[in-house]
Formats: sequence, structure tokens, C-alpha cells
Amino acid sequence: MHSPKMCGPAAVLLACVTTIGCSDPGPGLASASETADASTDTTTAGTAGTAGTDAPTTTDAAEAEPVTWHQDIAPIFVQKCSGCHSDAGIAPFSLASYETAQPFATAALDAVERGTMPPFLADETDDCQPRFGWQDDPRLSDDELELLRAWVDQGAPEGDPATAAPLPEPPEVELTDADVRVQIPTPVSIDGDKDLFLCFSVDPGFEDDTWIDAVQISAGNPQVVHHVLAYVDESGASADKVNEDGYYPCFGGPGINTANLIAAWAPGMTPFEMPPKVASRVVAGSRIVMQVHYHPTGKPELDSATSLDLRIHDTVPEYVGMLALIGNSEGPQLLPSEHDDNGYPEFRIPAGVENHVEQMLFKLNDVPPLRVFAVGTHMHYVGTDMLIGLQRPSPDDGEPASECLLQTPGWDFNWQRTYSYDAPLDAVPRFDAGDALYLRCTYNNSMSNPFVVQALAEQGLGAPKDVRLGEETLDEMCLAVVGIAIALKDAI
Ligand code: HEC
Repeated sequence: MHSPKMCGPAAVLLACVTTIGCSDPGPGLASASETADASTDTTTAGTAGTAGTDAPTTTDAAEAEPVTWHQDIAPIFVQKCSGCHSDAGIAPFSLASYETAQPFATAALDAVERGTMPPFLADETDDCQPRFGWQDDPRLSDDELELLRAWVDQGAPEGDPATAAPLPEPPEVELTDADVRVQIPTPVSIDGDKDLFLCFSVDPGFEDDTWIDAVQISAGNPQVVHHVLAYVDESGASADKVNEDGYYPCFGGPGINTANLIAAWAPGMTPFEMPPKVASRVVAGSRIVMQVHYHPTGKPELDSATSLDLRIHDTVPEYVGMLALIGNSEGPQLLPSEHDDNGYPEFRIPAGVENHVEQMLFKLNDVPPLRVFAVGTHMHYVGTDMLIGLQRPSPDDGEPASECLLQTPGWDFNWQRTYSYDAPLDAVPRFDAGDALYLRCTYNNSMSNPFVVQALAEQGLGAPKDVRLGEETLDEMCLAVVGIAIALKDAI
């Protein structure tokens, strides 16, 4: 990701926000969960006639409702799993039919209980209870988890296909009303065993300033496209960096100095839509940079179609939306850490340390009133946990003096994205002049971190080394992605 560590002190935030510019935010998820609870009821009723298909062994079996694939589990898996776990999906096995899912029943329950599946890094902890839920939260409800547990306990029975519960519509992952599509210019072949990070520079053909209010990235080859970040390059500088195939290598960011993030995407995500009346501006002549993270499969693969869809907002919006990148400071915003050896705060994650914390506090004085409608975390491979908070020295309108905006306690570089609050724009957290954004990033720079082991191996290194801020695989970041809306009249 673009590293705004050059952002100066004091008026930092505004400076950062301004340079990060008018982008539209990343991802979000579309619709999902209405059907879940309803299906629980209907399917329980539906199972009555199929009790004979499984032979309960426990003595209190009379009380246990039979739970079966067709009656109870298929509707949950269609909505929450088979977007990735299907024959053509990115996951290594299918959970789309009884035959393919049954062998994975225990593993599925285990992964859901551990919180690793479906992949969704935002979590509630003792340190972080965000005031709002997330749009299109794919996690299983308590009732759904209970059903899955009961199904596995009962031996994962199939049930009667003749009385199968109706299957809900899976979440929509296409942006169905997009106006513009930009696509990688040439096919790339993905081979070997190293992850590949390529930046594609594409001209979207905007001859006038254009307002955008929704975006979606589509993987050309879902087997190898691991995640994608999309940026607007107002300067056009990315055009000078590409090779004859239209791309250049890049890891931590778009590889150019000024670029505005517009989307952060991981597989399975639904389109990112801004709240109503919010749009972000793409100035005439801008190029789009798509940074694609390719993960080889072990056999030669081709990606010829990874693309970014944009929906145009036809009128001038009431609010300007953008994804501000705030963090990566080595200046006055960096707070002291346990391992500062030189008498001043330093961003350095010492080799071998399992639990190293860096904290930053960005007090923003010169900002117009903002609303924070989406938020995301960004670190590299050494990171394990990141928390973003908001502090208000003089809160009003019933806003809390401090609140946690997001924590991703099981950080995984492969599943980074932004999360949108499931609340209207006039309810989501406000940020006023004088308020501060707090970042806490935790790192494990030891061989007990499997991502560090892998990253070292790819560099041909056998042991951890001190890690500092930067854009390379073995550098780190501590960067908040903040989706903000500013009234148009305040934004100029
Ligand atoms: C967004 C895509 C996606 C969704 C949605 C998803 N998975 Fe996965 N799943 C993957 C990928 C990719 C892997 C293999 C790589 C990995 O482990 O991260 C995987 C691995 C797994 C594994 C084996 C590894 C482990 O963690 O135990 C299980 C079991 C699993 N998924 C179950 C599920 C279940 C059950 C659901 C739905 C409740 C689900 N997944 C939803 C992408 C997904």
C-alpha cells in the first residue's frame, strides 16, 4: 500500500488526507443474512419426517432434533462457504454438495469455531467493541453454529433430498450496474513457487472529472489472484513505469508517490458501495493502478482478465468520499515502545521478538467534520494484530470520549480488506478537528510466526532480521485505511 510516512507532523492528518485524495473507498459486502434465521425454523420443521435416516446413539436422543445436510446445512453453506468452496472457486475443496462436504464436516466445524472460516478478520475482543456491526458480515450466527455442531455430532447425515430446504441466493459478488470496466492489458502467466506482486497501469478514459460511488474487483483467474488493491493515479506517473506488457513489479504499494486507494479486495467479497449521497472524484486523465497479488498453484496458470468495475455517480454528490491512509509514522505520532534502545521512539521490530507493539497517535487539528463509514487495517507478514481507535478530547452530541473502530486480532495479509459499518452516514462515528486516531500494531518477528518463516524462505534467509517501515516483503507497515465522507462544501 502507498506509504504516507512522508506526511509531516502537526497538520499531518489533513496533509495525509489531502494527498490521499479523492478516492472512493474499498470494499464492503452486499446482502446476505436475512434468510439465515428463517431457514433455521423451516428446516427444523422439515426434518421431522427424516428422523429415520440417522440413528441417534445418545440416550437423550429423543430430545435432539435431527439435523441434516438437505434440511439444515446446505442453506448455510450456500450462503457462507460455497462462494469460494466450489469446483471453480479459490478454496482447495468444494462444500457445495453433500458428497463433497460430508468428508469435511468436522474440519468445517473446527474452522468455523476457530473463527478462521469464513475469512473475516474483524473481530470483537475485550479491547475492541465497535459501536456498529459490519455490512454483509459473513460469519455464522449463533443459531447456525449450533446447527453445524449438532450436524457433526449426529454424524453429518444427508437427510432426504425430496424435502430439501430451499436454498437461499448466494451473496452477489458482481457489481451489476457498473458503468466502466478497466482490465489488465495483457495476459500474465503465473508459474514457479513465489508469490508475485504486479502493478498494472490502465487508462480508464475519463476525459472529465468523474464521480464514482461503487467499485468491485473481479479476479480473472480465481485460482491465482490472492488479493488486489486499486489506486487512482492522478499524475499518470505509473504509465512511465510499465514494461511492454503494461505492468511493473511492486509489493507494499503502487510504486509511485501519489496515488489514491479506491478499493482493497480479497476473494469472496461483495462490491464496495459508498453510502447514499457519497461519491469520490477521479480527476480527468487519471490512470488506474491495479496491484495484484498472485499466488502460484504449482502448475502454470494464466490470468488474462482481472478487472475493476466502477459505477459512475451522475450528479454532484452531497459528500465527498475517500479512503484515507493514515499511519506509518516515524515522526511525533510514533509513541515509545518497549524495545526502543536509542532513547527515542523508533519503528523497529527486533529480530526474534514474538510480541512487539508499535503505537501511533494522529491528532488532527485542521480537518472539517468527517464521518467514518468504513475502516481497514494494513500490515505485512510480521504483523499479527492491529487495532484502530478514535479519541475525542471534547466529545459532543453523545459521541463517546474514545471508541474502538476496528480490531483484526488474527491478522492475515492474504485476507486484507476494508469493513463498512452497517449504519447510516449520520450515525457512524464522527471525527472533528482536535480528535485523534490511535493505531496499535502488534508483530511477531520470530520463527513461531509461519508468515515470517515463509517470507524469509522466499528471500533465501534462515533467521529473522530487524524489521523497519518500508514497502518490501520483509519491511512492515502500521497503516489504517479510513473511509471518510466530508460535506462537499467543506471538501474544497
Ligand atoms: C472467501 C473465500 C472463502 C469462504 C467464504 C470460505 N472459505 Fe474456507 N477456505 C478458503 C481458502 C482459500 C482456503 C484454503 C487456504 C486457507 O486455509 O486459508 C480455505 C480453507 C478451508 C478449510 C481448511 C483449512 C482450515 O482452516 O481448517 C476449511 C475446513 C474451510 N475452509 C471451511 C470453510 C467453511 C465451513 C466455510 C463456510 C462457513 C468457508 N470455509 C468459507 C476460502 C474460503
